[in-house]
Amino acid sequence: MAERIKTHDECAYWDALADTYQAITRISCRDFHYGPQIPGERRLRLLPPLTAGMTALELGCGAAQNSVWLAKQGLHCVAMDVSKNQLAHAAALVAREAVDVRLVRSPIERFHLYCHGQRFDFIHSSHALEFVQRPGRIIKTMASFLRPGGHVMVSTVHPLYNGSWVTGMVEDDDGQVYDGQFLTDYFEPPDDVRDDNGCRVISRAYPVSSWFAWFRAAGLEVTALAEPKAVRSAPYTSDDWADHGGQLDRVPSTVILIGRKGGGDVLGG
Ligand SMILES: C[S@@+](CC[C@H](N)C(=O)[O-])C[C@H]1O[C@@H](n2cnc3c(N)ncnc32)[C@H](O)[C@@H]1O
Repeated sequence: MAERIKTHDECAYWDALADTYQAITRISCRDFHYGPQIPGERRLRLLPPLTAGMTALELGCGAAQNSVWLAKQGLHCVAMDVSKNQLAHAAALVAREAVDVRLVRSPIERFHLYCHGQRFDFIHSSHALEFVQRPGRIIKTMASFLRPGGHVMVSTVHPLYNGSWVTGMVEDDDGQVYDGQFLTDYFEPPDDVRDDNGCRVISRAYPVSSWFAWFRAAGLEVTALAEPKAVRSAPYTSDDWADHGGQLDRVPSTVILIGRKGGGDVLGG
């Protein structure tokens, strides 16, 4: 097993990074985004029917662009993040877009404390579960707060993206030339340790089959699984991500899973 380093300063990390993150990352709220440099919902068509009057909860929302998009479709949205500075950006966006999204400051690991007695039609998290210690446990809790027929959507870092690669041409003893050879262990991808502004967070990737198993263990029927290829024009982009073109043409940045909780019809408002 890869060493699991327990960090205590995730919140300080994201508070310090929030202004820079929102300045250099361009995230549209005219589409539902799944991750950097990949198509959004307009092209992928992965989401279940989500209609006005339904309830949605977003975990690790950042500036809450996805919740703003859902609120524009008439959903009642709650968006949570651990970082007060990320939530300040969310509050500004919600005001600018004149939508109603309830913003709550909470770590993902304790979101259930704020949801006592509530049930949601849609619980979603885009590129935040890679920062929690036990994602399988969180998915189980997400599922437990769904209405029958409701859905969970998780997008997260792809295990091939967190791996180390040979970049450029390497020739072996037999004269065979390799380019872009995967160097590390798919089953235990290396942690992506990020040190910025004196704080540290760790982004962890897991095999796609682990995410599938966690959804199943939470009682969710997986209705969509996607590893989209990068595109030039995406609802979530930055100059850095756009520059990744070469690698992202071969390796997905993101894996997306959607799961449905049984026991009822998909609610229609
Ligand atoms: C990569 S950003 C993604 C933000 C947003 N979902 C998006 O797609 O733009 C990760 C977000 O997760 C939040 N986050 C990280 N760890 C968290 C935790 N344990 N609990 C709650 N939020 C967390 C960060 O503050 C940050 O806003």
